[in-house]
Amino acid sequence: MTPGVTPIVAGNWKMNGTAASLDEIGDVCAGLDAEDTLPHETLLCVPATLVERAAAVAAESALSIGGEDCHAKESGAHTGDISAEMLADAGASFIIVGHSERRTDHGETDAVVAAKAEAVWRAGLTAIICVGETREEREAGKAEEVVGAQLAGSVPAAMTATNAVIAYEPVWAIGTGLVPSNDDIGAMHTFIRKTMSSRFGAEGEAVRILYGGSVKPGNAAEIFAIANVDGGLIGGASLKAADFLAICDGINA
Ligand code: PGA
Repeated sequence: MTPGVTPIVAGNWKMNGTAASLDEIGDVCAGLDAEDTLPHETLLCVPATLVERAAAVAAESALSIGGEDCHAKESGAHTGDISAEMLADAGASFIIVGHSERRTDHGETDAVVAAKAEAVWRAGLTAIICVGETREEREAGKAEEVVGAQLAGSVPAAMTATNAVIAYEPVWAIGTGLVPSNDDIGAMHTFIRKTMSSRFGAEGEAVRILYGGSVKPGNAAEIFAIANVDGGLIGGASLKAADFLAICDGINA
């Protein structure tokens, strides 16, 4: 954890969830509201089809709702795409950009990710900008080089500690049950902190850096205790309220 920084526990539902899943969001809200004080911000990023209904469920609670991706443009002839302004209108306050599944499935480059982050800011929301190396890149000793290049290309110059969150998600740890060692997580988060501080000064010192990739109730507390890990981006384990709340408890531990 970074001293003086409020951590974030963020869920990423990916392409999961229909109206039947809204009960889980209600259960997350109830669980958060049962706490006297919350030492973290809490966010669920859901499919665009659910943002408005999820935001309505979460309206009176400590839970924020986010989108999972957006188009770089505000509007126009882009069939099937959704703008940051549309997600804001539906009740989102954060949007994930540059998730490795977008980079892989849709060929998104660092320049595309940076344009999307700027779109998130244009709409007045906070961008969660994702970076992370593949297994081959780690085994070749290139993890820091790859992540450094992604940060340089994906994080626009107007970044601040309030308009952005960085998520480090090693591609090989996403959805696999594999997690880097605590030492490797710590080394990468320290590298990201140094990279952000040298480029952005005080804003880079204070920007939240989340770890993502196979975070579960059983490993959350030890991961969140690592220096410069300011919370997590949680995929599969965010789909069930009980698991997501147990992971949130890892911040307190
Ligand atoms: P996972 O996904 O927790 O299911 O590994 C994390 C993510 O992709 O954000």
